Amino acid sequence: MATKKYVMPSPYTRPRCQPPKEDVVYIRHLEDLACNQKHSHVELGVAIFGIGRAGTIHLTNLVGNRRANILYIVDDDTEKLQRLKVYWNLKNTVCITSKQQDQAFKDLKVNFIVCASPTFTHENIVKQAIAHKKAVFCEKPIAETIEKAANLYELARKAKVPLLSAFNRRFDASYKSVRDRVREGEVGKVLTVKVCSRDSPLPSLEYLSISGGIFHDCAVHDIDQIVSVLGEYPIKVCALACSNIPEIRDINDVDTVAITMQFGSGALAAIDLSRQCVYGYDQRLEVFGEKGMLKAENRCPMQNVQQFLPDAIKASPIYYSFASRYQEAYKQEIEHFMDVLQGNYFQDDNYC
Ligand SMILES: NC(=O)c1ccc[n+]([C@@H]2O[C@H](COP(=O)([O-])OP(=O)(O)OC[C@H]3O[C@@H](n4cnc5c(N)ncnc54)[C@H](O)[C@@H]3O)[C@@H](O)[C@H]2O)c1
Repeated sequence: MATKKYVMPSPYTRPRCQPPKEDVVYIRHLEDLACNQKHSHVELGVAIFGIGRAGTIHLTNLVGNRRANILYIVDDDTEKLQRLKVYWNLKNTVCITSKQQDQAFKDLKVNFIVCASPTFTHENIVKQAIAHKKAVFCEKPIAETIEKAANLYELARKAKVPLLSAFNRRFDASYKSVRDRVREGEVGKVLTVKVCSRDSPLPSLEYLSISGGIFHDCAVHDIDQIVSVLGEYPIKVCALACSNIPEIRDINDVDTVAITMQFGSGALAAIDLSRQCVYGYDQRLEVFGEKGMLKAENRCPMQNVQQFLPDAIKASPIYYSFASRYQEAYKQEIEHFMDVLQGNYFQDDNYC
């Protein structure tokens, strides 16, 4: 009775509720439902190089993508190529080894390549792709040194070929929201940024020995994330690192890293990085400013389930690894790239 005075007109007579922009999966469902011709229907031919952990994620997103036609898969593991052709029912995809890669580069139907082979192979593949006027979606890092990466961007610029260094976190909805809100001044002048990045599961030694080391393989994500939030590059960087895992020490790498950075604006940043985290893929971001704080916490697959016990309340574990934690970000990343190729995206000048 007490709330009867608040009765509203029938919802059928009021403006319909709209999904929040954060619910990207539902918004995509609405687009699929309406079959609106938002994107050009010109099909984009693609060749995927490397079909390991990262390549499989991109393959998963490209199979059945209405804009992509997977024309080639290039990998030297011929036995795996056989299996994946059957597993994904890739009747019209040509599977070749890196010795035969020219076939993919010379095919005029290939519009872009996805480079997800080991880091040391990127420079050569990207160079060849640019020389053949193919757009390039390349896993990070695109080369082993700053000079080589800068040279590839220069080549791409001269050839007018899009080249994306695929930093998937930029496409994660929660991080994007923090970044955009920081840029809109919601926390005022930024004082500190903290990134926690602890890997899971521990990668194989085989992978680590060709990964380029933890700074190139992992810290690049954290550095890119901080730079993209702040919109500026650091003026001072300090790093401490240890190898607590003997096998990692034996291959001259480190597994535990602390990085601090100072920026011209006065902001400070800290990265806490580890190769192994036993409770899952711990990925957090916090931005502290004069007006408040914004943070993106971990996510877990069973966010809505809790167990209540006499002495504790237990929640479900966080996501185990990048393939699940960033599943949606990888989808957005490849969609963004295809938008660029089809002229549906305009560069944000403020994008550091
Ligand atoms: N953005 C991310 O979240 C993310 C995650 C994992 C890996 N990566 C990046 O992806 C790249 C690959 O890493 P991964 O973990 O998938 O490695 P991986 O070892 O799982 O897979 C690499 C694959 O490339 C194949 N390969 C080797 N040489 C090749 C060549 N010349 N041409 C074509 N294929 C070749 C191998 O046979 C293997 O199948 C690395 O640069 C890494 O930094 C990015």
